[in-house]
Amino acid sequence: MPASPIRVGIVGLGRSGHDIHLRNLKHLPDDYRVIAATDPDAGRLAAAAAEHGLRAHRDLAGLLGDPEVELVVVASPNGFHAFQAERALEAGKHVLCEKPFGLGVADVDRMIAAAERNRRILQPFQQRRYEPDFRKVQEVCASGILGRIEFVRICWHGFKRRWDWQTLTAVHGGELNNNGPHPLDHALELYGEGEPEVWCDTRRCLTLGDAEDHVKIVLRGPSRPTIEVELSSTIAYGQDRWLVCGNAGGLRGDADRLEWKWVDWSAMPARLADPASTPDRSYNNEKLTWQQGSWKPEQATDGGGGGQPAAQPVLDLYRGLHRAIRQGAAQEITPAQARRRIAIIERCRNSRR
Ligand SMILES: NC(=O)c1ccc[n+]([C@@H]2O[C@H](COP(=O)([O-])OP(=O)(O)OC[C@H]3O[C@@H](n4cnc5c(N)ncnc54)[C@H](O)[C@@H]3O)[C@@H](O)[C@H]2O)c1
Repeated sequence: MPASPIRVGIVGLGRSGHDIHLRNLKHLPDDYRVIAATDPDAGRLAAAAAEHGLRAHRDLAGLLGDPEVELVVVASPNGFHAFQAERALEAGKHVLCEKPFGLGVADVDRMIAAAERNRRILQPFQQRRYEPDFRKVQEVCASGILGRIEFVRICWHGFKRRWDWQTLTAVHGGELNNNGPHPLDHALELYGEGEPEVWCDTRRCLTLGDAEDHVKIVLRGPSRPTIEVELSSTIAYGQDRWLVCGNAGGLRGDADRLEWKWVDWSAMPARLADPASTPDRSYNNEKLTWQQGSWKPEQATDGGGGGQPAAQPVLDLYRGLHRAIRQGAAQEITPAQARRRIAIIERCRNSRR
């Protein structure tokens, strides 16, 4: 007999709580049922409660006191995440927490301790891990056809102004907290084990707030690819989202198409470095035989950095969370992974100019 749907309470009914979580969970009626919400905006709360048949709680305490709520989705503004997640865990609820997963590692450590103490699942909402283009990039790199991966460039480029709270440092806005966790998660998955050295440059270019809207992060370490993340709203000529450089080939492309090509060095003549001047004054030219591959997603997803996030990665994350809560499956994205990303964001924030 199928288990009953997980009963959900949502904290914050904005772009995330309403448009991402409430809307998408309707596509998983066997797994989830949103039954309650809270938001300090009374009009927004009442409208959503009426439209979706939710219990409207005046505040977080009310929602946490609702015995039917099993899973609390924390989708409030950035500065509230850790405190609200911790309180929900202490109230015996499972928690899914939007990014950023706390403002620093101290926040993450308190959340993890609360989850362990109360034996509840604490799920970072890192839905872009399930994006098909990222999965394909991972697959091509892991296949070995590109050789040893030396360098990766991840670009989230755009050219636009913003003036909402996500542009204000007083409420923990800025691209490091806002879009930063997404490409950084991709970068660290491609980087692999170990703690990279981090170099970061942040600027405020076009935003009307005082927080950064241009971020460049470089990760490097021994026997690892150097990975560059460029996240900016000040790039009029945007470049591909993906550039992967291996010693046998490369990959490039966006969320809606990828292509890659590689050389089979074993089929090429063996060569040795030669200190002598080349007899014909040539520059070591040789004809390369490229092999090629390409990919398009079955369904187009958004390229990140604005607009409505795509549904499929959200649903995949929620399916995994359902398995973790109902069947005791291992979490696919863990709080420890999110802690590693937050540690880098914290270091970058401390180097803000
Ligand atoms: N994963 C993603 O792709 C994604 C996309 C958008 C937003 N987010 C995250 O979701 C969070 C919310 O962002 P948003 O874009 O929905 O903002 P928003 O301004 O659209 O909505 C925030 C909502 O929270 C309410 N709120 C304010 N203070 C609150 C509190 N103390 N407790 C409960 N609710 C409160 C507001 O009234 C508003 O309805 C942010 O942390 C953001 O980083 C994630």
